[in-house]
Amino acid sequence: MIIGENEKLFSLVPLSILYHCPLFDNSLMPTPHANPDVLNSLATSTHANPRPVALELTDIHKRFGSLEVLKGVSLTACDGDVISILGSSGSGKSTLLRCINLLENPSQGTIKLGDNPLDLKLNKQGELIAQDKRQLESLRAQVGFVFQNFNLWPHKTILKNIIEGPTQVLKLSKAQAVSEAEALLDKVGLLDKKDAYPANLSGGQRQRVAIARALAMKPRVLLFDEPTSALDPELVNEVLAVMRELAEEGRTMLIVTHEMRFAREVSSKVVFLHEGRIEEIGTPEEVFDRPKSPRVQAFMASHH
Ligand SMILES: Nc1ncnc2c1ncn2[C@@H]1O[C@H](COP(=O)(O)OP(=O)(O)OP(=O)(O)O)[C@@H](O)[C@H]1O
Ligand SMILES: [Mg+2]
Repeated sequence: MIIGENEKLFSLVPLSILYHCPLFDNSLMPTPHANPDVLNSLATSTHANPRPVALELTDIHKRFGSLEVLKGVSLTACDGDVISILGSSGSGKSTLLRCINLLENPSQGTIKLGDNPLDLKLNKQGELIAQDKRQLESLRAQVGFVFQNFNLWPHKTILKNIIEGPTQVLKLSKAQAVSEAEALLDKVGLLDKKDAYPANLSGGQRQRVAIARALAMKPRVLLFDEPTSALDPELVNEVLAVMRELAEEGRTMLIVTHEMRFAREVSSKVVFLHEGRIEEIGTPEEVFDRPKSPRVQAFMASHH
């Protein structure tokens, strides 16, 4: 299952996209920790539309049999947005992330990467599947996924884990892929582990490798599903530090997390999911400090 997911994620080709951020909610707000130069460079000449849309989900529904776990979720991430997704267990957070690259097949809705809608068709089970495998592969190449349990290939060294996607999918030469992988390992502080195997690394180190592996594909959007919840508490910060650096670089990220302080500090937008719907969305200040919904108020009170 784990290896299967990796195979799904690495059978891919890139696309290029440019589309502009619609004028709504707080999409004009820069990521608090993002480097202003990065955000400026992302800005376009149109004042009202300063940042291109990276990812747009519209009316996503997901049913598992008779259980509807997503009931119409719409969400837009502009380039440079860091969107934290919060909510109680079972609210649909993982399912939403997994629907973005069709690790789960939505029952209804649209998915757009930049200005490229993913062409979908209904199968006999009432699930939306990709019309064109190559287009899905292309989307998956541009949407990196970091899992709670790392999903590294246990039989490959750290370096080989990272160069697999770039050589197989992006068709980089081995020398180029190795050089880029080494730079990424250096960035996450693990260059000295390049010849080790995942089993010989701590959980925090494995997760940093998984992040380096996602970055090696040069994705437009990075999705994180509770990247620190499988870690011992003393290892959480080393992973959050890497993610914080990515936010500061202006990477576009959707992060399912229970790390409230981190979410408050790095996010440009915070989304609260409840029973498959967006219960509240806003800036970190709005959602953490002045939540309108009683459910969000109760959640925040129990997480302080
Ligand atoms: N493959 C599946 N088959 C059937 N039901 C599923 C499946 N995956 C998820 N569900 C159900 O969908 C609902 C949402 O699950 P999901 O994993 O998205 O929640 P979550 O918000 O990520 O929760 P958590 O915080 O515990 O990770 C739950 O009721 C779950 O039991
Ligand atoms: Mg989950």
